[in-house]
Amino acid sequence: MRETTLSISDLILPVFVIEGENRTEAVPSMPGVERMTMDLVVNKATRLDQLGVPAIALFPVVGEANKSLMAEEAYNPDGLAQRTVRAIKQAVPEIGVITDVALDPFTVHGQDGILDEAGYVLNDETISVLVKQAVSHAEAGADIVAPSDMMDGRVAEIRAALELEGFVNTQIMAYSAKYASAFYGPFRDAVGSAGNLAGADKYTYQMDVANSDEAVHEVQLDVAEGADYVMVKPGLPYLDIVQRIKSELQVPTMVYQVSGEYAMLKAAAQQGWLNERDCVLESLLCIKRAGADAILTYFAEDVAHWLTTEKN
Ligand code: PBG
Repeated sequence: MRETTLSISDLILPVFVIEGENRTEAVPSMPGVERMTMDLVVNKATRLDQLGVPAIALFPVVGEANKSLMAEEAYNPDGLAQRTVRAIKQAVPEIGVITDVALDPFTVHGQDGILDEAGYVLNDETISVLVKQAVSHAEAGADIVAPSDMMDGRVAEIRAALELEGFVNTQIMAYSAKYASAFYGPFRDAVGSAGNLAGADKYTYQMDVANSDEAVHEVQLDVAEGADYVMVKPGLPYLDIVQRIKSELQVPTMVYQVSGEYAMLKAAAQQGWLNERDCVLESLLCIKRAGADAILTYFAEDVAHWLTTEKN
């Protein structure tokens, strides 16, 4: 009589990519997660594909030399993200490759967009860079481009540019209900934007944690603009939002179990205070129960192993 199931095919693994070869770097605030060079990401994609995980989401980590005010590196055809997409698609064409469309890895200030002199994120100027970034990802072979920036109107412009350039089958996964959450802290350590941000916040473009109707509104806009999937982020503290979106709008809804959620579970497990496997599986099943169609989780590979080797 079970109403909800968690399957390997529900999982998407986010990975942090660094320059170089055969090298990893630990992320101290995300024990068990490592930044990896492209060759190791390709190996991981191969293992994930064998396990039945349908997709991988790439987050490039570049050095300060590749950061600027206008984030030009974001659309470099030979940038780290673009090269990694090509390498994965060549080695493991079956796995879905999702790329992050946002400027924060490439701006000197760590914001997701271009700033005016007062430090305010400029919506429309940012979109023109995001469009170039998304097209460069599609050119490299990305199956899904995922704008995580929260500018208004970017999905429509990305969709129009993809059509114009002939990438009619490239899908858009819009981070539609992305909250200005404190749970992104460990991610900002992982991509190295925490230092650049220097304590600044993203409140002018990410959503107010207190809002729920606004999430429905944001999702409606992104769907109307041509998004194939929408996302709610973070996961566990926002399941009321997931449920509203699924029940009111019936659109393919992804949920991101973010870095802070990972860190909480991992830290408690390492202390011996929580049973990691049971709590992770429970959290993900609850996200499914709320209405998620797929889940981005740093536990994806572990979960795939657990679901392959054990009965629940
Ligand atoms: C930035 C981005 C963030 C995450 C994904 N893309 C952080 C932020 O908005 O500052 C967070 C993911 C996580 O915490 O796991 N475009």
